[in-house]
Amino acid sequence: MMNIFIAGGTSGIGYALAVHYLSKGYRVGVCGRDINKVPKNNLNSLLVYEADVSIMSSIKTVLQNFLDGHKNLDVFINCAGSYAEDVAGQISYEEAEQMLQTNILGTINCFEVARLLMQHQKNGRIAVIASVSGILDYKKSSLYTKTKRSVINIAEAYHRALEPFGISVTTIAPGYIDTLKLRELNGHDLSKKPFLVDVDSAIKIIYEAIDTRKKLLIFPTKMKWLMTFLSVLPSSFLNVIMYRKAKWMQQD
Ligand SMILES: NC(=O)c1ccc[n+]([C@@H]2O[C@H](COP(=O)([O-])OP(=O)(O)OC[C@H]3O[C@@H](n4cnc5c(N)ncnc54)[C@H](OP(=O)(O)O)[C@@H]3O)[C@@H](O)[C@H]2O)c1
Repeated sequence: MMNIFIAGGTSGIGYALAVHYLSKGYRVGVCGRDINKVPKNNLNSLLVYEADVSIMSSIKTVLQNFLDGHKNLDVFINCAGSYAEDVAGQISYEEAEQMLQTNILGTINCFEVARLLMQHQKNGRIAVIASVSGILDYKKSSLYTKTKRSVINIAEAYHRALEPFGISVTTIAPGYIDTLKLRELNGHDLSKKPFLVDVDSAIKIIYEAIDTRKKLLIFPTKMKWLMTFLSVLPSSFLNVIMYRKAKWMQQD
């Protein structure tokens, strides 16, 4: 039976992916810092672990516990992410630290634990959720966007390094996905989120990309086109557009 592990799989996109893999008959484990987040819906077969991806020993231990006696790690997906808006507003030191720790250090820790296990197998799939915002390169982007841009770059480095070992790396750069977290961050009003995708549709697209070992998935298509258009604009112009967008999104 295939073994699938999802870091940051206790809610949102990660949890929905876990349910999707379970429905296909795979053995699935998830982790997060607060395991009480996992919906209570009789999914007895889902293996749930408490771990913080920004602490190497934490994620390493739960992965070892998950694989105990089972041979291969077939798929590892890192969905853990931290978000705070610092373009049109101010964020605290703790929020900034959390974003850097989870999004950058967490990403590296996840790649390391997964590749150490998969390397001798000469097979495996690793995926990481970045963000479509990380596709654009401009100076005044938010700290979140900069961390997600780093995720894309880190994943690209691992893609090249792991290819000779038969391990694929898929970077997912989604636009807005209608998760509870996105709703909470926006006062439960998603009317200003363009091209919003429902979780079920997003999961099918993400699953397919990982399954076919796609290198980079940017979706939905309309958001991808918008990014292609914006990416040809001068950085100074992008700074202005993105600042106005952030301000507009903050207004009621
Ligand atoms: N929803 C969107 O529109 C959207 C768009 C683009 C990208 N993304 C990215 O997609 C990913 C999932 O987002 P989501 O909307 O599904 O949010 P979510 O429900 O908050 O999912 C995040 C998951 O990561 C876990 N997590 C956070 N920090 C962690 C840490 N340090 N160690 C271990 N687990 C950690 C959370 O649980 P705990 O907090 O209990 O640890 C939770 O299970 C994030 O990386 C996000 O940046 C989302």
